[in-house]
Amino acid sequence: MKVIVAQNETELFRLAADLVEAEVRADPACCLGLATGSSPVGMYKELARRCREEGLDFSKVSSVNLDEYAGLPGEHDQSYRYFMNNELFDHINIDKANTYVAKGVGDIEENLREFRAVIASKTRAIQVLGIGPDGHIAFNEPGEQLYYHAHRETLDESTIDANARFFASRDDVPREALTMGIGEIMEAKKLLTIIGGSRKEAAATKLLLTDEITTACPVTMIKVHPDSTVLLTKELADKIGYKG
Ligand code: F6R
Repeated sequence: MKVIVAQNETELFRLAADLVEAEVRADPACCLGLATGSSPVGMYKELARRCREEGLDFSKVSSVNLDEYAGLPGEHDQSYRYFMNNELFDHINIDKANTYVAKGVGDIEENLREFRAVIASKTRAIQVLGIGPDGHIAFNEPGEQLYYHAHRETLDESTIDANARFFASRDDVPREALTMGIGEIMEAKKLLTIIGGSRKEAAATKLLLTDEITTACPVTMIKVHPDSTVLLTKELADKIGYKG
């Protein structure tokens, strides 16, 4: 696992965008695995700038997202489909028909079948990940076991707390989500994990300062991926005592 400590957030987002840009330049028709949440937002802004000002071309790129809340339609302003349109797709020249975010409403089992089939049909050049305060990646929450394939997951109380900031009230946060499984995440050729936002110290410590690989902290699974890069700021590295 390669760990990069950025001097500040601006540098972190620039470095993250560099890694995604390299994939798009190498194969203009590549598939990107994307994430929502606050961690990748700065990187998406930088990619949009490069598209606008430097001609970075997404016209042939496709994408698959990690997850979607169960119960929220794509038009809901807290759905992950809405988030992706708003934070990235509306600002780059990607064909939205080539972007996939699992459907949160309707027949969830059928939606999961479709989600698994889409994942299986694409080779993701790189999968972007953020991490939850409890160490989740996508919505794979800590527990006795993790799952290989896309499935329905009940969100942990700490995840509901963390995501409540985006909703009018905590009660409005959906309790379930459709999430890519750990095995499917590992199938991406490269992983790019951005540790941003607050309350990530405990999970970052497990990831960076221990040798553990444990279902109690799902992000530790990325240690076994053959091409896994983690990006964090110097501020967080200093806080947890990570020296490289
Ligand atoms: C989002 C996702 C989640 C977030 C994680 C961190 O698609 O898969 O695992 O990456 O909850 O969220 P932020 O970045 O908001 O701290």
